[in-house]
Amino acid sequence: MSGITARSLSDGLGAEINGVDLSRPLDEETFKTIHAAWLDHGVLAFPAQKAMTVDDQIAFTRRFGALISHHMPQFCLPERPEVLVVSNVKEDGRPLGQEKAGRNWHTDYQFLAEPASASFLHAIEVPPDQGDTLFIGMTAVHDALPAATRKRIAGLNVVHSRVQTWPILYPHRPPLSAAEAARTPDIVHPLVRTHPETGRQCLYLGDVMWAVEGMDRKEGQALLRDLYNFATQERFVYAYRWRPGDAVLWDNRCTMHCATPFAEETYRRLMYRTTAQGERPFYADP
Ligand code: OGA
Ligand code: MN
Repeated sequence: MSGITARSLSDGLGAEINGVDLSRPLDEETFKTIHAAWLDHGVLAFPAQKAMTVDDQIAFTRRFGALISHHMPQFCLPERPEVLVVSNVKEDGRPLGQEKAGRNWHTDYQFLAEPASASFLHAIEVPPDQGDTLFIGMTAVHDALPAATRKRIAGLNVVHSRVQTWPILYPHRPPLSAAEAARTPDIVHPLVRTHPETGRQCLYLGDVMWAVEGMDRKEGQALLRDLYNFATQERFVYAYRWRPGDAVLWDNRCTMHCATPFAEETYRRLMYRTTAQGERPFYADP
């Protein structure tokens, strides 16, 4: 018996996992339990994993798939391109990582042909009582859509453009270099995504959506905006309040997430993120 427990955190999304120390290698049975809970709950919180090192974090994430190295090494740990640093902290005037990352609803690496399946975020330093991360379960959103809308959007494809959306999303960052832009060309993904492991249908939205294929741009953007407004209703949102050492694992295939503002002049927030590469998204007609 592994002694591991999962306690549901909200209606339909999220569970807290206790009884496991992620600074130690996991036996197969424990990993299977965690993996099944991850598929069931979409978001798993592992409180107070203070002993987990960066290499432990890498080893754990690798159980879910090959790691994605970030295409902007300036935001990663030195010698660890698999570890993205999300932080407002500066040392000698130089930002330690990405500032104001993920402040719009998104899923990780959606601009890649094979976006992330698992993301795993470890809180090294967090402000008290602010800087929550918000999550939405996109299966529940899909299933709550009016039947006529579900019918209308099934099988549609969306063009995701890192290049077009970059200056809109990140006016505070330098523009993409030509080499960076070339590394992330536009990519097409289904608007309704069939989860490759659970078979459930999920609304697949994000922050780099640019157009609906085969639709006039205005009409496509209006449709995406309506779906986005529907999905981000408060009733679908779960807020995770961090404490130092907490680690949260989520499934990008069936959830969206969003960072929230905090008093950046007063507090330090330092997070390490690892991501496992997933499958090419697809839509399977039920
Ligand atoms: C991320 C992310 C949200 C946060 O690391 O992928 O979106 O609250 N982080 O830091
Ligand atoms: Mn993110």
